[in-house]
Amino acid sequence: MAGPTSSDLARNLASELEAELVPVESKRFPDGESYVRFERDLRGEEVIIVQSSFPDQNRSLIELFLMLDSAKNFGAERAVAVVPYFAYARQDKRFRAGEAISVETIVKLIEASGADAFLTVDVHKPEIMKLFRIPALNSTAMPLIGKHLATLDLKKPHVVAPDEGAISLAESVAEVLKADYSFFRKHRDKASGVPTTELREIGIRDRDAVIVDDIISTGGTVINVVKMLKEEGVKEVYVACTHPLLLGEAKARILSAGVKKILGTDSVASDVSEVSIAPVLAESLRKLL
Ligand code: R5P
Repeated sequence: MAGPTSSDLARNLASELEAELVPVESKRFPDGESYVRFERDLRGEEVIIVQSSFPDQNRSLIELFLMLDSAKNFGAERAVAVVPYFAYARQDKRFRAGEAISVETIVKLIEASGADAFLTVDVHKPEIMKLFRIPALNSTAMPLIGKHLATLDLKKPHVVAPDEGAISLAESVAEVLKADYSFFRKHRDKASGVPTTELREIGIRDRDAVIVDDIISTGGTVINVVKMLKEEGVKEVYVACTHPLLLGEAKARILSAGVKKILGTDSVASDVSEVSIAPVLAESLRKLL
């Protein structure tokens, strides 16, 4: 079923699974309320609802809750929520006293809306998958991103994680590219990073660098790393991520910082979404169902 935020991805996934694609009519009322309507009877069906929760996150999530609850109301046998970009996953604890642990609330709402299983991709903190009581799987797009990068004729690429949370992503891409990798340590207060590996020792001068992250939102994280890589004399810088939110002028800012190419997946539909995660989702669904 093609949720309003993920119609192209849902079509790709349906063709991977050789499943029927059910369109969903959606609109927004003048006061901002959401409306969804299925264009097919769902009685007795196993329904896979694809709805990434990218900006406007709140609206996407409300649409997801409406689709899950009404699919079950209409007698669907089982409803799987496929949410490639899982919003609120970064607020997984109280960083300051009194804060909401937002992701816990969203997980409860997904379950309360009738989801029988949940699927996501490169979730910001894999530990949050334990919050689900229903079967829940997080898979990764990094091998596919690595394969795509391998077609770009990179010069002795070095893969860089912009913070410690992205190390496993960088490792996965480096494995496909048969490259080495390193990481930066992010200082949250200054929103800047310091290299924890001595890049001079690795020797990245005149080589290409690939920065790999789960999300690019404002682009601030990536731009800081680009500056440091340039200071170390890298040749070209490529940037790859699973979820290209690319808010406002982020794409233009990243490119004008000297990045040759930004690559993302269709987890979030954008003009850099060159890699489809449909095969990854199809594989996870086969495991889950
Ligand atoms: C944070 O730890 C994430 O992995 C990303 O690095 C972050 O969300 C990117 O945000 P921005 O593009 O706004 O710096």
